[in-house]
Amino acid sequence: MHCYPANLYHRKTAPYDKIEFDALYAQSIQDPAGFWAEQSKKLAWFQPWEQVFEGSFEKGDISWFRGGKLNACYNCVDRHVEKHGDEKALLWEGNTPRESSSLSYSELYLAVCQLANALKSRGVTKGDRVCIYMPMIMEAAIAMLACARIGAVHSVVFGGFSSDALANRITDADCKCIITADETERGTKKIPLKKNVDEALKHCCDVHTVIVVNQSQKSTETWNDDRDHDYYTLVSQQPTCCPCEEMDAEDPLFILYTSGSTGKPKGILHTNAGYLLYSMVSFQTVFDYQPGEVYWCTADIGWITGHSYVVYGPLANRATSVIFAGVPNYPDMSRYWQIVDKYQVNIFYTAPTALRTLMAAGDEPVKSTWRTSLRCLGSVGEPINPEVWEWYFHVIGNGHCPIMDTWWQTETGGFLITPIAGITNLKPGSATLPFFGIQPTLVEGELYIEASWPGQMRSIYNDHQRFITTYLSQVKNKYCTGDGAHQDDDGYYWLTGRVDDVIKVSGHRVGSAEVESALVDDHRVAEAAVVSIPHAIKGESIYAFVILKQNQIPTDTLKSALKDQIKKEIGAFAVPEHIQFANDLPKTRSGKIMRRLLRKIANGDDDLGDISTLADPDIIHTLIQNKL
Ligand code: WTA
Repeated sequence: MHCYPANLYHRKTAPYDKIEFDALYAQSIQDPAGFWAEQSKKLAWFQPWEQVFEGSFEKGDISWFRGGKLNACYNCVDRHVEKHGDEKALLWEGNTPRESSSLSYSELYLAVCQLANALKSRGVTKGDRVCIYMPMIMEAAIAMLACARIGAVHSVVFGGFSSDALANRITDADCKCIITADETERGTKKIPLKKNVDEALKHCCDVHTVIVVNQSQKSTETWNDDRDHDYYTLVSQQPTCCPCEEMDAEDPLFILYTSGSTGKPKGILHTNAGYLLYSMVSFQTVFDYQPGEVYWCTADIGWITGHSYVVYGPLANRATSVIFAGVPNYPDMSRYWQIVDKYQVNIFYTAPTALRTLMAAGDEPVKSTWRTSLRCLGSVGEPINPEVWEWYFHVIGNGHCPIMDTWWQTETGGFLITPIAGITNLKPGSATLPFFGIQPTLVEGELYIEASWPGQMRSIYNDHQRFITTYLSQVKNKYCTGDGAHQDDDGYYWLTGRVDDVIKVSGHRVGSAEVESALVDDHRVAEAAVVSIPHAIKGESIYAFVILKQNQIPTDTLKSALKDQIKKEIGAFAVPEHIQFANDLPKTRSGKIMRRLLRKIANGDDDLGDISTLADPDIIHTLIQNKL
């Protein structure tokens, strides 16, 4: 295995070398309270905290910086304005190269204050939940910060989710206010956000306010005068000053829904101080970010990466963060690298699935750009194949940018296992070593974390017991990640993917139970089981086994109808690659579907192991014969 030494190509600006870093890491494990107390000075507090950490995994009562008061928006915006107001906070690049704009920290401050006042004028107060269903525009970041400013809890819903999925999330979090946009374009696709909101609101009667950024003037025909407000009309009437709410360290900052292996999506709850500090420190440390540098993370704000590493982490560090509304292959395959050249991006952070798409198009589109501004690269969302890593390193980074393969989850708030730029020697395909305060441990090939860290989720909204059961009770006193991993002789971690029924399609998290539930919602379907199969570009894709009710005929039309059903209930990204009709599924004698076998069949793996516990082994042969 080729190893890339950390210090060969990187201008390290951090005040420590590898030996000092290791000492700091050791301190973060031996004396977490002392370590994080020191780090907490990086935040601005209205009132100092009394206790760094308290709580236990058993009860799921985790508290960091109890007694402290602060505001996340103040930390991301206000405190930079006085001395650095003219520096760029956000650079926005639209779907086509013709559209771009930017906001300095002073401009961002005004935009956030006005929207915060607009929310207040609509009766939104501290603790209320606000749903943000937006494309990648600066108003999305402004909306998150405006909520944080007044202590409202944002729940961002990815724009790729359908109206049904949106409705479920609005209802679960009991949102009364939604911020959205009328219609947006990604590549050649149009996404009718406002129309989806209208559709969703047929089922959510409590929503009294919808604030709409009019991008294409497409929403006027469905305008509801009592409920809908044009964003800029509403905001322009507002005062430009809005005091920050003083939030307790453990007051909720946001909810972000994510898929688990069973049941409906979970509202992952993060709180103010710990989350903000963790995203801030991890961003700065891992990328070795220095003020003045331009940083670009391609993640959508609808996912955790967009929260921690497009908005909160970078802005808390006074970074310049690029927001891109388009896709990697439109108008052509050079799009990413043209943007890198246009904004002179220094740090570029993306997902393996995007890299695989670009790699498949060859080196030509890359070679037509310079990319000389780049000094550090990043990867997130799924394991990165070593050959893609090498391509990223040699072709995109010209062989001199270290790649930060960051392993983490919605639940963890920020990076847990990750290299540190300029410090960690790299091995393609390994997320390398734990971050400050993180003590990984392997239990039968599954990854657990020993003790709490500030960015850890605090609860599942409305279902604290599920938080304890899913994450904290699998192994006593350890946080369960749901990922498989192994460690090599150098102690490096190699993440191998989910061990539960969560599927990562193009880095998007999909729960097999959600897809199955959408399938059986069709009246012709009796039963369904979905598993993942490897996919050259998407990483994983979905393979569905479907049993029809008696007298139903398996046709291609029915297959399309089922795909449409999933589009309607979840979103296009969750549509299976294959649907195989079957007469029966392999079950244990107690009636449990044996997914392990289905996964093997879908993957064309003949070595089925012990099938003696099956109620009816013959089923297997039919399934194999009919495999797609
Ligand atoms: C997977 C995304 C390998 C993993 C930040 C995890 C990764 C899930 C990596 C969380 C990586 C994320 N290497 N696998 N660098 N990063 N994963 O909540 O399976 O969307 O459990 O958060 O993505 O997905 P989520």
